[in-house]
Amino acid sequence: MRSFAYSSHPIRVLFGAGTLRQLPDEVRRLGGTRVLLLARSQPGEAARAALGALCVAQFTDATMHTPVEVTERALAMLREHGADCLVSVGGGTSTGLGKALSVRTGLPHLAVPTTYAGSEVTPVLGETGNGGKTTRSAPAILPETVLYDVELTLALPVPVSVTSGVNAMAHAVEALYSPDANPVIDGFATRAIAGMAAALPRIAQNPSDVDARADALMAAWLAGTCLAGAGMGLHHKLCHILGGTFDLPHAQTHTVVLPHAMAYNAPTAPDAMRRIAEALGTGDAAAGMFDLIASLGGPTSLRALGLPEAELSRAALLANAGAESSPYPNPREVTVEGVERLLRDAWAGQRPEPAAGAAPDLGWLTRQVVDSFAGSPNGRVGELLTDLVRHLHEFVRHNDLTEEEWLYAIDFLTRTGQISGPKRQEFVLLSDTLGVSSVVDMLTNSRTPQTTPSAVLGPFYVPGPPAAPAGADISAGLPGTPLWVDVRVVNPDGEPIEGATVDVWQSNEDGFYDVQLPDLEGPALRARFESDAEGRIRFWSILPSEYPIPKDGPVGQMLDAVGRHPYRAPHLHFMIWADGYRRLVTQLFVAGGAYLDSDTVFGVKNGLVVDFKPGNGPAPDGREVDGPWHLLEFTFRIAPA
Ligand code: BEZ
Ligand code: FE
Repeated sequence: MRSFAYSSHPIRVLFGAGTLRQLPDEVRRLGGTRVLLLARSQPGEAARAALGALCVAQFTDATMHTPVEVTERALAMLREHGADCLVSVGGGTSTGLGKALSVRTGLPHLAVPTTYAGSEVTPVLGETGNGGKTTRSAPAILPETVLYDVELTLALPVPVSVTSGVNAMAHAVEALYSPDANPVIDGFATRAIAGMAAALPRIAQNPSDVDARADALMAAWLAGTCLAGAGMGLHHKLCHILGGTFDLPHAQTHTVVLPHAMAYNAPTAPDAMRRIAEALGTGDAAAGMFDLIASLGGPTSLRALGLPEAELSRAALLANAGAESSPYPNPREVTVEGVERLLRDAWAGQRPEPAAGAAPDLGWLTRQVVDSFAGSPNGRVGELLTDLVRHLHEFVRHNDLTEEEWLYAIDFLTRTGQISGPKRQEFVLLSDTLGVSSVVDMLTNSRTPQTTPSAVLGPFYVPGPPAAPAGADISAGLPGTPLWVDVRVVNPDGEPIEGATVDVWQSNEDGFYDVQLPDLEGPALRARFESDAEGRIRFWSILPSEYPIPKDGPVGQMLDAVGRHPYRAPHLHFMIWADGYRRLVTQLFVAGGAYLDSDTVFGVKNGLVVDFKPGNGPAPDGREVDGPWHLLEFTFRIAPA
């Protein structure tokens, strides 16, 4: 149990492709009639066209780090035109100006982000003026509405997409080890990292891949939400200093520094690093992040961004001084030597050493295997093998499977095959006891809610059972409590189906099927009936009982190993088919019977549990019954073919 606090910020978000068309309605929704548009270049023109007469002025000079003098000029324009609503279109720079104007005037602000900066969902504003930078946070800074239009991001050049995307991932990374972290933020953060890491390579390959762009924009929003909800650590502090003091470009700096800040914090944030590595699909979070960035064309070094090597010590001192004057949350203590080493690695573009004992990065291997299926002539086979291999590799990696464990698994499967033969199918039993048979069965057969649910076939069906007339007794004289079965077969409209073939089979009162009783001559407790004009079949049998599935093989060992019992709840099997209808294989379970809630093959479904009522008075067909007897009535609804 983890106690936590989470504040969510009130904001209206519209997400989609072509959402810019909704801009005028959204402006009016905020009470806006005269818009000051903060935008330049193509997206600005598109926004202006969408706004039409609602736009009374456009300011095109938004500047990085939101200088106060630029804000003053925009403010003058706003007053001159009597604007009553702000629309910012662009990256963090446009959004920042929108925030600066809105907090000064109280006007509503609608942000249309075209990069992955994420600042549109934070109540934080950083401004520069008088040679310094101030940052403040207030609810009034948060835009009222954010309109994400995937189409506006299609033209974002690949290098900008990469650095902006990594900038977004940095919010999510630092949120995961922030003291403000909580399960909500964790969920956003891991989804943001996984989404962005998967989208960027697709964008690099095809910048106008709308789905990849949508995934990246969605990830950026989630990452921005992390930034709004959790205090950032050393990585953000370092980037702030490198940008503010050494004038390095914002998103590129984030891209270079992030893997190194992660490597620095890894020893004291193992849980966060494990989640990040998992989201990246890699063994070591920091090295995996570096590899991803390198594979996307970087940048990977501060040297390439123009930082002189001689400045590294000063930057480390500043970071340390910053930590002392305005402490920020960081999982690992920030020391001058530590940060200087970090910066030297980042300057040189050195790949972070994976932590000692970390699993190696195996993504390349999985990709090689997956790529080997690319030429599969049968698309479905290629698709299924691809997904199977991905899950298998992930399973092995996630559980850090040992060679001994894997060899045990192979031996287990070998024995499962060896014990199987014409009379025993241990693989089916394995599939049954792992619930896979039921999953496949339900996906295949239980998609029409108005028809009777299906249930697994099981190993005791014998094709072509003896035909029996209506009213026959199928117990072959075996002892047990008599059971009168009176069931109907109807179509989804409730109309009777005449001439349906109905095979039934069940266990005896000791839980054995006839095929398991070597001394029994001929079939017992199994037969084939044909439904009459009312869709009915009627016969005598005995009450079935619970029984264990065969336990003397590998499946039995597996059940023992996890402390599971081998029992099936008491049931009768039915297989029904009729011309023009889908075959139904199902079971009826005795209400109140044993193991209904822990059936070892997971076959029980609510709609199949039936009251096997005690009968009273004379038997329905006038038969003389000694002692108690039971009655099973049920209607099977079968689906048209
Ligand atoms: C059966 O109901 O007959 C059965 C089903 C799955 C595994 C074993 C038995
Ligand atoms: Fe059975």
